[in-house]
Amino acid sequence: MSGITYDYMQEYLRSLIPESSGKYLELEKFAEENMVPIVQKETAKFLEFIVSMKKPLRILELGTAIGYSAILMYEASKTNPKITTIERDKNMIELAEKNFEKYGLTEQVEIKEGECLEVLESLNEAYDLIFMDAGKGHYNHFLPHCLRLLAEDGIIVADNVLFRGMVATDELVKKRKITIVKRMREYLDIVSKDKNLITSVIPMGDGIAVTKRR
Ligand SMILES: C[S@@+](CC[C@H](N)C(=O)[O-])C[C@H]1O[C@@H](n2cnc3c(N)ncnc32)[C@H](O)[C@@H]1O
Repeated sequence: MSGITYDYMQEYLRSLIPESSGKYLELEKFAEENMVPIVQKETAKFLEFIVSMKKPLRILELGTAIGYSAILMYEASKTNPKITTIERDKNMIELAEKNFEKYGLTEQVEIKEGECLEVLESLNEAYDLIFMDAGKGHYNHFLPHCLRLLAEDGIIVADNVLFRGMVATDELVKKRKITIVKRMREYLDIVSKDKNLITSVIPMGDGIAVTKRR
């Protein structure tokens, strides 16, 4: 059980998504074989949809891993966007660099090595879309920077906000995850209650929150 939705619902929704091919299949296989966490299939589809609607020129991603979601967002936008993506793990950076090179995206994607919070503090450009997919226990700390960096009409997409259902009910909370869960609840509270923001939380994948200014 995913803790987010009924198994039959997840299976059905997944069955609607066409089989991956080409580079995506290759990257998904690599991620699975090497236990690299990448966006779930339905989250990937949602991201593709949002990006193709928004047509961002500048994208900021928190959590590069092997570059799967960055490549997906680049292709979905059709705007030749500039992507800045933050990653602290040197092995991941090496793998992502190879993938960006292999798929001709070296010019368009800049990897910033380091802790998200520190890198965020150093950024000053405006981004049309910010994808949060790293440091689940710190989204509430990343938020002020993401809002500072968000273009007037920009969108923040935050993944894993329901964290296997634990964020929605104490019954599922594992003791060692209590801090992450508390902080994620704080994040969702802020983005949902701030009168200047509009947020929709979607019980899909591991839970996605989409936020923009009113
Ligand atoms: C879920 S994976 C990102 C997956 C990627 N967005 C995709 O779907 O293809 C999260 C990545 O963020 C990195 N990470 C986690 N916490 C971080 C932090 N505080 N600062 C920088 N990177 C972090 C991890 O090393 C990991 O590679």
